[in-house]
Amino acid sequence: MTIATDSYRSILDAPEARFPLSLGRHKSRIRKLFHASLVTQWDPATAIDWNSLDASSYSQEQRLALRTRWSRRAWGEYGAISESPALQIRFCHDRLGPDAALYFSIRSQEESRHAEISYLLAEKFGGYIDAPADDYEGSVSTHGVRRLALDADAPVECTVAALVCSAEQIIFNVFKHISQITTHPAIRRVYELILRDEARHCAFGWYFMADRMPDLDSAQRNRIRDAVATMIEEVELNGYQLAWLAPESEASRAQIACDRILWEAGLGASIEELEAPVFISSLREIRDRMKREWDIQLPIFHHRKTGKI
Ligand SMILES: [Fe+2]
Ligand SMILES: [Fe+2]
Repeated sequence: MTIATDSYRSILDAPEARFPLSLGRHKSRIRKLFHASLVTQWDPATAIDWNSLDASSYSQEQRLALRTRWSRRAWGEYGAISESPALQIRFCHDRLGPDAALYFSIRSQEESRHAEISYLLAEKFGGYIDAPADDYEGSVSTHGVRRLALDADAPVECTVAALVCSAEQIIFNVFKHISQITTHPAIRRVYELILRDEARHCAFGWYFMADRMPDLDSAQRNRIRDAVATMIEEVELNGYQLAWLAPESEASRAQIACDRILWEAGLGASIEELEAPVFISSLREIRDRMKREWDIQLPIFHHRKTGKI
């Protein structure tokens, strides 16, 4: 006799029904994002002036900080690559029309170039670091999106709301802040290129949800609220993006110190004193917008560094 220890049901276990297959334009705002992505491609190998980045003109501690920063960024971008296809499979499985599926094919590709340019920067400054320290891994490892996206019992809107309208929206706001305080031209350019892509990723999330919300009942809305709250409490407030929110450890202190060295030199990072107001206002904006546009009320969040938000 097999004892069921987990009631999780994956959509991958369900038979696929593909036809009739519609490929016409249904959600024109999302289709426009797809076309905008097609004409704004960039190549990490040529998008910035790599010759302007002379590693020998930086101090040893700045080089280590740059390697550390961009390796961490690469881990985060890789998270998107490894999870984005799960959501694309979900769009096809749920037969939500062609626009979201077409758009997500290129969204995954955009995350790939974010990962590659982060990796190339880490290599340029002395070498990519391929894994976090053990006492930091919990903050930057998977945030469960793939499992959630394939969960047959969780509406797809849970994943889009938590991943796109919350996590990506926060990183967009933080990157915008960092790009404004970065004085190094090539590194600022990297942030601007990533931001251009991320603006579309965020727009997709809000457009998608606006189309879907009228069809959702209150139980489904509650699941969306819970998915967003979990993403914020267990991922964002655990330091997935911002090292100073991670649990105190030798590794998180090292990450924070590296970011400070880069901030002092205008080399593409920020510090707790400046990032905290951006993070707090992002959470408030997300809460206000979800209430206003979706009639979903997020809970109050708490972190020892920020107090109640
Ligand atoms: Fe990205
Ligand atoms: Fe993104």
